[in-house]
Amino acid sequence: MQENSRWHAFENADQIAVAACQQILNAAKRAIANHGMFKLVLAGGKTPEHVYQLLSQADTNWSKWVIYYGDERSLPADHPDRNSVMASQALLSKVSIPAEQIHTMPTEIGTELAAAFYQPLVAAALPFDLVLLGVGEDGHTASLFPEHQHDQGELVHAVYNSPKPPQERITLSSAALSTSHEVIFLIAGGNKQEVVKHWQQGADLPVARIQPENPIDIYILREYLQFETRPDLPSAYCGQSGHALDSVNQHRDNMPR
Ligand code: 6PG
Repeated sequence: MQENSRWHAFENADQIAVAACQQILNAAKRAIANHGMFKLVLAGGKTPEHVYQLLSQADTNWSKWVIYYGDERSLPADHPDRNSVMASQALLSKVSIPAEQIHTMPTEIGTELAAAFYQPLVAAALPFDLVLLGVGEDGHTASLFPEHQHDQGELVHAVYNSPKPPQERITLSSAALSTSHEVIFLIAGGNKQEVVKHWQQGADLPVARIQPENPIDIYILREYLQFETRPDLPSAYCGQSGHALDSVNQHRDNMPR
């Protein structure tokens, strides 16, 4: 497990979405004030959908947002299982981010070609301001799966044998995903208690290889946490219902790094 991590525990996925949305909006404000744009990497899967829906109602300077994806499934551009289709329906079609600032991964042109197309975009974008990620039950994040070997010189990998369908995907590398001022993991949905335990116990999982310079933020269902594996954690570690974000901010400086 990353040594510098901040765990924020919530009773349900709705609370996670509210708190994550607020951290994203705060990050956007800071980034836009600092360097005039907010470079956000979107996560795929189901968990972020509610975050995107909440974001779509937010008051922020959308013209300064620049959107990237952490991974994409190799499917036709309008396929309902595409991460870009979910993000578009929940967020991107509802806000005024200029189209040229939305960098969809074009997997419809072919997995290898899409990875090659996306590589220079990522190289030009780094460092990101915020990377949003999910975690699968096997410890994968984005489309970085256990046992898969990739060329460490690549910023974007083509993936051909994903255990999570579809088999073909492209994904940012762990180095690219780690090159971000902030990284948020959203962990809800499914049965993730075991993988969280293994992660906390130091297993060599893809999720453990995302190692940005700053602490990572992990927004997680309280039921996934097994405190006996981390006796060092104070009770202030957890977000409180109804005051999720206040709690996160209040305890941020005191959390174990
Ligand atoms: C994908 C992903 C993947 C996802 C996790 C968690 O395209 O499938 O990007 O890494 O984020 O599997 O997915 P859930 O949020 O649906 O559990």
